[in-house]
Amino acid sequence: MRTVYVNGEYLPEDAAKVSIFDRGFLMADGVYEVTSVLDGKLIDFDAHAVRLDRSLRELDMRAPMQRDELLAVHRELVARNDIAEGLVYLQITRGAPGDRDFVFPDPETTAPTVVLFTQNKPGLADSAAARTGMKVISIPDVRWGRRDIKTVQLLYPSMGKMMARKAGADDAWMIEDGFVTEGTSNNAYIVKGNKIVTRALSNDILHGITRAAVLRFAREAQMEVEERNFSIDEAYGADEAFVTSASAFVMPVVQIDDAVLGDGRPGRVAPRLREIYLEESRKAAI
Ligand code: PDD
Repeated sequence: MRTVYVNGEYLPEDAAKVSIFDRGFLMADGVYEVTSVLDGKLIDFDAHAVRLDRSLRELDMRAPMQRDELLAVHRELVARNDIAEGLVYLQITRGAPGDRDFVFPDPETTAPTVVLFTQNKPGLADSAAARTGMKVISIPDVRWGRRDIKTVQLLYPSMGKMMARKAGADDAWMIEDGFVTEGTSNNAYIVKGNKIVTRALSNDILHGITRAAVLRFAREAQMEVEERNFSIDEAYGADEAFVTSASAFVMPVVQIDDAVLGDGRPGRVAPRLREIYLEESRKAAI
């Protein structure tokens, strides 16, 4: 059984409880982070902590603990659960004011709820899916307008994943005004020639921590990167495509709707970027 963290305590997972009045439960009034673990160490912890602070600030929520304390909790959970490869999930909600009300509770009297747990994922780095590549379908992006805030409003992304499953695909890319925004839980990229194209940062997409690292590594490796909108039609004609996230790292995409990219196998760029990302991230892990 896992040991999880809830509001200052380390508990067996079945002893960890949150109130029915928690605003995360009633209103999806909460934010989260997912940090990967390789070799028992955290990947890009600082960047996740910075984004968490930003998400909290954008929603007028207070940070419940200092960064070093947050790091200590992450490390303690990784150690207690003996995680060599996996994920640490963190969620902070506006807490449980003891009733349901649209008005935010007074932060002086309602403390945020803080939950962390680990997910053990042996084989996360050496993944079979990375060798074959994924199929994605396109679906309309009907999410709210602040996708840059990492909130727990994940119903539509979850529905998108199920639409993909039903269609015999692995994931969905969301489309707004003809342009790809991102995957259900990852950032989306296409490759044409030597150029990597991905949507620029705005309120329309999550500012992926993996995205930032991968684009940095790509530029350092003299690859050409263009941050701009790309249409789903442009994606159909791409040589390669891929997604990035803390749980998928760099994952090749070999089919988008009915369009098979290249020869239907991962191309040159995505596997190379995955290799560089894993190598550099392992080196910098803490
Ligand atoms: N998802 N876009 C969306 C909508 C996401 O949910 C995520 C992450 C990303 C990639 O961000 P990052 O590189 O910081 O993981 C992009 C996490 C992994 C999840 O929900 O499980």
